Amino acid sequence: MSTKATLNYNDLSIDLPVITGSENESAIDIAALRSGANLVTIDPGFKNTGSCESAITFLDGDKGILRYRGYSIEELAEKASFLEVAYLLIFGELPNTEQLEVFENDIKSNSVVDEDIKKIIDAFPKAAHPMGVLASLTSALTAFNPSSVNVNSEADMYKAIVKIMGKFPVLVAWTMRKTQGLPIDYGDKNLDYVGNIMKMMFGQPNEGFKVNPAVKEALNKLLILHADHEQNCSTSTVRIVGSSHAGLFASLSAGISALWGPLHGGANQAVLEMLEAIREDGGDTAKFMMKAKDKNDPFRLMGFGHRVYKNFDPRARIIKKAADEVLEDLGIDDPVLDIAKSLEKEALNDPYFVDRKLYPNVDFYSGIIYRSLGIPVQMFTVMFALGRLPGWIAQWREMRLGKEPIGRPRQIYTGATLRSYVDISHR
Ligand code: SDX
Repeated sequence: MSTKATLNYNDLSIDLPVITGSENESAIDIAALRSGANLVTIDPGFKNTGSCESAITFLDGDKGILRYRGYSIEELAEKASFLEVAYLLIFGELPNTEQLEVFENDIKSNSVVDEDIKKIIDAFPKAAHPMGVLASLTSALTAFNPSSVNVNSEADMYKAIVKIMGKFPVLVAWTMRKTQGLPIDYGDKNLDYVGNIMKMMFGQPNEGFKVNPAVKEALNKLLILHADHEQNCSTSTVRIVGSSHAGLFASLSAGISALWGPLHGGANQAVLEMLEAIREDGGDTAKFMMKAKDKNDPFRLMGFGHRVYKNFDPRARIIKKAADEVLEDLGIDDPVLDIAKSLEKEALNDPYFVDRKLYPNVDFYSGIIYRSLGIPVQMFTVMFALGRLPGWIAQWREMRLGKEPIGRPRQIYTGATLRSYVDISHR
């Protein structure tokens, strides 16, 4: 395999190194392009541009492969705990019993947030979108944990990591309780990570809390499936904000805002709203398929399509199966699941979707499970953020430890050329 690419331009011929990764993906290293040929590249949406070398997550969009640190998503979703996967993503190896115990205990001893955070939550209107609240609270954590801002050593990074791993679920749960008008719950250190999240989210003030094993298994699986996904929009945001050496919490807050968008993590909420709209409209999926294909109609089949996967999103397969299992375990018959399945069937046989390789993605079925667990639809993207937290942390840590330069893309200017100021009396 060649280790260089030659660019011929005007009377110039410049050799550029080609790097190849552990899964035989190759990239042209263009670091010498400006100095050697006075050229930059341009690629709106970075559809063909790599921002970094990373050892965390591998995707093969054509084969529908997703692996965290070399382990398949199918195995991890089936066999691992979310905290094991968090440790794997952040530190690179599956933890042994002692390592996991230390990690879990360090997180537990950081799972209380300053009481003044409640004043910030109370300042929000009840109808505030939880993603906006969560982004604000995550950034506010910086003020309550100043030692977690300027972290440069691995030891200081670890302290900031266990702090946010401990406090983020509290912010998520308290944000949800605010939208429901329920008193906040402080959790229980005797429960494990996911069990504690469940108590803070679902515990009722007038009764004891018991962890429902079926719900816990579903949540554990969903959090693992959302844990990382290489250089997606929100992760790239975390990396570029972190590259200015803004603290971890500030970088995560930026990532939460990026995830909020309906083209990204916000799609899981948009999918449920779309399915409900189809149900209320009489379940005429064909009508909505036509809308999705109509270039003059802004409607898109939410939960379908992906920048990288041009095959089934492996996570969608697992979540679709889990949706059937959870609804059966909980004895719920949700008509929107049937609508989702008929939409999927129609799309997979429709040339518009087949030609564009548009398949269900991670967001297509996840909302059906969240809803069956009693999670409000506006909280679906917050659940995505809860799962993605360890991936964002891992990517931020890799960028900082790799001493990557501050992210600062170039541009091609297309505006007015030099002109002189004209006094307002002459305009
Ligand atoms: C996530 O990047 C990640 O890894 C993200 C994520 C993660 O884990 O972090 O996987 C999570 O964000 C999943 C995606 C969730 N978003 C949605 O479900 C929203 C609906 N999907 C689309 O908006 C779209 O498919 C994107 C945003 C996901 C991908 O967009 P691209 O890669 O920029 O593709 P495109 O918009 O250029 O579409 C290519 C063609 C276009 O048609 P033509 O102009 O070629 O005729 O496909 C069409 C699009 O109009 N198209 C759709 C469609 N998605 C793409 N048409 C109808 N419905 C859709 N959903």
